[in-house]
Formats: sequence, C-alpha cells, structure tokens
Amino acid sequence: MSSEDIKVISVVGARPQFVKLAPVSKALRSVVNHVIVHTGQHYDDSMSDTFFRDLEIPMPDVNLEVGSGSHGAQTAKMLVGLEQVFEAEKPDCVLVYGDTNSTIAAALAAVKLHVPVAHLEAGLRSFNRRMPEEHNRVLTDHCSDLLLAPTQVAMDNLRNEGLSARSVLVGDVMTDVVYWVRDEVLRRNTAGVGGQAIGSYYLATIHRPDNTDDPERLDALLEAMSTLDRPVVLLVHPRLAALAERHGLALDRGVIDPRPPLGYRELVAATMGSAGVITDSGGLQKEAFLLRVPTITLRPETEWVETVDAGWNILVNDPALLKESLGGHRPSETDVMPYGDGNAASRVAETIITWFAR
Ligand code: UD1
Repeated sequence: MSSEDIKVISVVGARPQFVKLAPVSKALRSVVNHVIVHTGQHYDDSMSDTFFRDLEIPMPDVNLEVGSGSHGAQTAKMLVGLEQVFEAEKPDCVLVYGDTNSTIAAALAAVKLHVPVAHLEAGLRSFNRRMPEEHNRVLTDHCSDLLLAPTQVAMDNLRNEGLSARSVLVGDVMTDVVYWVRDEVLRRNTAGVGGQAIGSYYLATIHRPDNTDDPERLDALLEAMSTLDRPVVLLVHPRLAALAERHGLALDRGVIDPRPPLGYRELVAATMGSAGVITDSGGLQKEAFLLRVPTITLRPETEWVETVDAGWNILVNDPALLKESLGGHRPSETDVMPYGDGNAASRVAETIITWFAR
C-alpha cells in the first residue's frame, strides 16, 4: 500500500481541536488521503468556522451538526453519526485529538468497527476525576492503537499505565501553530488587542465547569478579577455567557472589559500584547508559556506541569489569592522547550505512515 492509498479520518469538534488540526492537516494531506469530519460540538462561527478560515484548514468533508447537550446525549449522537461515517468511508485509521466528548466518541465508534485509532495529545493527566476531560483522555488512550504523546511527562504517564509499547513521543503540534502565528504577528506588528495599549492589560478566559457552574465560585472569581490593577480583557466563551446570565451575575464590573471570543490570530496577538494571562484553559496556559507571557491558572492542578516547573505559570484555586499571586509573578527568562521545536505535525505524519508500513 503506498501512503497516498492510506485513508486517515481526522475527527474534530471543539475549538482547541481545530487549532491542532491546522498543522496536522497540512502535514497529512500531502502524504495520505486525509478526510476531515466535524462532529458539530462547537457550531458558532466564532467557535468553529473562523478557525478553519484563519488557519487555512480545508472545510470539513462531513459535519454531523450534533450541537450542544448533556454529556450523555451529545456523546451518544456523535457515536451514532460517526459509526455511519466510518462504515461509509472505510478509513484505514481514525485520528482523534485531545480530550473532548468528540475525542472519546470517535475513538469508541472506530474501535468497535475494528478501525485502528491514533490519539494525538495522548498521555496527559490532571489526576482530577471531576473533570470530564480526564475520563475522555484515559478511556481514549486505553482503547487507541497508536498514542502520539506531546511531552516526556505524557510518555511517563503512559508507561505508568502499561501503554509504552503503543506510545511515540512526537512533540506538541500546538507549538507548530503558535510559532507560525507568532512570527506573522511580529512581521505585521499586530500584537495587542483593540482599545488597550500594549502591556497595559491582562487577558482572561474562564470556561471550565468547576469555575462556571457554581454561582458563588464564579462570582468570587469575577470579583477578584474586577479589582486588579489594570484592565482585564475577558474573552467570553458561550458557556460563561450562558451561566453568568443564568446566575444573574454581571461580567461587566470593575476593571473587567468583557468581549466576544477572538479568532486564533487575534488571540495570539492579544496574548503577546498583554501584561499577563488569567485562565482555566489548557491551550491558553501553554500558548502563553510558548510566547513567554506570565500566567495564572485558575485551577488546583494542570496537565501542563512544565509551564509551572519553568516558573511561568502559577496555579491559583482560591480567588482571594489572585491579586497577590499576580503581583508577585516575575518569571525568569528560560530557553527550555518541553513542547518541542515546532515540527511535531510532520512527525505525526511520519509516525502514522511508519506504523502502517509495519
Ligand atoms: C468543550 C470541551 C473542553 C474544551 C472546550 C473548549 C468537553 C467535555 N469539553 O467544553 O474540554 O476545553 O470545549 O472550548 O468536550 N456553546 C455555544 N456555541 C458553541 C459551542 C458551545 O453556545 O459553538 C455553549 C452551549 O451553551 C453549550 C456550552 O457552550 O452547552 C458548552 O459547550 P460544550 O461543547 O458542551 O463544552 P465546552 O464548555 O465548550
């Protein structure tokens, strides 16, 4: 079988997966028959199509349009739709990304049809079983055939679970995208965000259920941000907008400047121009580290422990400690590269082809 005859279906559905798909689709489409399936988990233009346009990703070949729902209902609709697509398309491999409901649904639908599954961003663990993503990643790793790990820590986690034989360290494809977009922002001199001077604002996001679902906690987080020493540009994920409204909590308070989510290039530009990032997003913690912007992560733990070890990310779970932690956050310059050199996507393509050759 020549490599162009290998049919690989990438299944994506949520915002961070589109970012990872960008470099992977570029690397895969020149060497294999690459098909893109979108589950429709994220569907607003600002959460989905804008990433395909911004990052020059071919539009999906199939969109299942499952939309929002409870975990069970959403995952079940994806399972039904994906099974039909895999039966019709007969892929040689299904490539799944990260840790969302789209990831576990695609992995499960494929293995039940005996289609080999490769998991990109395998081996991450928060060891927090309250997180839906933790179950998605553990279950996906254990049913997948090829585990593409972004870091040595991820490889160690996989070894500890007896999965070494299926694991390959490829690096982090997010690094590929961040460096590509960073260089463009520098070339065009577009760092920053509209209406705020460079270095004069913090950039913030909140979307994890543990931070949004309990009204008291969400109120305490917003209150802590609203009294910081400079404007906080808060990019409002639809989940945050919906829950703040339901709880009757105002986002527009004190120094908080709430805005709609940004496209990827604008997000990187806004991060580069900020004095610091406050977030509970996995992707943004790492993007900020790669761009060397000090970060506070509003969680008790992180999967991206390297950002903390390097001194650029501080975990703050108690909202009362936000101001003090941010004030004292002065990371030292470092040239460590735990997330690879920006060429992970080509290693993903090579690894998949070598795996088939075997
Ligand atoms: C999902 C992932 C999470 C990832 C995040 C990135 C799971 C379990 N969670 O969380 O790991 O970090 O994506 O954003 O898969 N909504 C819209 N428009 C959209 C999408 C969502 O309005 O285009 C609203 C709906 O009210 C929906 C809510 O956001 O119920 C949550 O969306 P969902 O996809 O269930 O989870 P996320 O919180 O986005």
